[in-house]
Amino acid sequence: ATVTYDFNIGWVTANPDGAFERPTIGINGQWPIPQIEASVGDNVVVHVTNQLGNQSTSLHFHGLFMNGTAHMDGPSQVSQCSIPPGSSFTYNFTINQPGTYWYHSHTGGQYPDGLRGPLIIHDPDSPFLGQYDEELVLTVSDWYHEQMAVLLPAFNSKGNPTGAEPVPQAALFNETQDLKVAIQPGKTYLFRVVNMGAFAGQYIWFEGHNMTIVEVDGVYHQPAEAEMIYLSAAQRCSFLITTKNETTANYAFVGSMDTTLFDTLPEDLNYNVTGWLTYNDTQPFPEPALLDELNPFDDMTLIPYDNQTLFSNPDTTIELNVIMDNLGDGVNYAFFNNITYIAPKVPSLYTALSAGDLATDASIYGSYTHSFVLERGEIVQIIVNNLDSGRHPFHLHGHNFQAIYRSEEEAGTFADSNATEADFPAIPMRRDTLVLYPDGNIVLRFRADNPGIWLFHCHIEWHVTSGLIATMVEAPKALQETLTIPQNHLDVCAAQQISTTGN
Ligand code: C2O
Repeated sequence: ATVTYDFNIGWVTANPDGAFERPTIGINGQWPIPQIEASVGDNVVVHVTNQLGNQSTSLHFHGLFMNGTAHMDGPSQVSQCSIPPGSSFTYNFTINQPGTYWYHSHTGGQYPDGLRGPLIIHDPDSPFLGQYDEELVLTVSDWYHEQMAVLLPAFNSKGNPTGAEPVPQAALFNETQDLKVAIQPGKTYLFRVVNMGAFAGQYIWFEGHNMTIVEVDGVYHQPAEAEMIYLSAAQRCSFLITTKNETTANYAFVGSMDTTLFDTLPEDLNYNVTGWLTYNDTQPFPEPALLDELNPFDDMTLIPYDNQTLFSNPDTTIELNVIMDNLGDGVNYAFFNNITYIAPKVPSLYTALSAGDLATDASIYGSYTHSFVLERGEIVQIIVNNLDSGRHPFHLHGHNFQAIYRSEEEAGTFADSNATEADFPAIPMRRDTLVLYPDGNIVLRFRADNPGIWLFHCHIEWHVTSGLIATMVEAPKALQETLTIPQNHLDVCAAQQISTTGN
């Protein structure tokens, strides 16, 4: 089937924490923005008209592989030119993966202004069908009272030489602080939870109810029991919750922002958001108990449902060190090794399509794009060493990856760990966004079987704007055989006065 959405993107006002009304980016005059919903095998068409007036935009469908449609991935200056105010652009792609995703602006640090919503792909062949009665979607997010247009220049300035990220004013469930979820007793629900925040990871727990995790980031895993989970920005998790058989009380559930990420803790900051499982709305809605200890489930212990085995002996290893530093101009930048990402003038995809045999030469994409050319079908290993004291959730476009190793905090580089193939799980968990701990390391592997230009980046939006991005140029010759730059892409670039060839 074809599922079509008409999205007019424009400013509305919103006041989700009841404390401050501000301009927010909505769709068709509404915020929160609509959920995109489809089934495996569907063709999804999203007609976007940019009515913001003052900002360009683009949409990224986070976690979708875009196999065969790399030009629909959305990041501006990577797979397209951003859509200028007054222009339109149509996304059109087929979905062949089930699960819980989201879509968000991928232009200029924009999504924290509100352009972020869930994307749910139903699966008639889900192994968990029949184990639940109903599905519910729950988003968690962080919220700023100021617009990104105010926060970003201050963040990326000499006035902020340490790169301290703005601390959000609130945490939200379903973009509100007033969420009561009506449930029936004695039923099992599939909760699909998405962290759509700009910055804060969140601890999530339900009082009086256990979670049975069945999916992370679109990958089914063997059921695992959890009392609490941690979701970084951009991560998703679905779990089953079975409700009690009586209706004598309501139960709180909590999202609690990870305050270790914040350089300062404003005294009036309420870093929790509470919602309620409503069994009976004539009964009280109790405040949740405060916990002394936050012990979330360890996602590295999950086992994928399909039992995909470890990709052993990688063909290529890419080693990236995370460094926060300035370039002598007093402004803090984020680096992978010695490179802080700067977007190219010509979208990298168009460079790949127009460069002929030179497309396999990483240098043609511009050194500041930090491009790596991958050969079709090879096994790629990415090692990330955190030389910074913050947590970073790393995301790869176009794939999920085997998460084969993650050190504890302060463990140093992967080389320091002396780990060998024998230390890696035979059946590693897979997801598309993985948290790297302070001064620790992670190792990921994937097969380069999806020609396209795929970003690898920290999903903290502040770090995207300060350069913590590398570009995977995957099988560019194969891309040239199947793709030419479509007319609607050329139109948008022309409207931005951006050339689609040369660099
Ligand atoms: Cu949600 Cu570049 O991604």
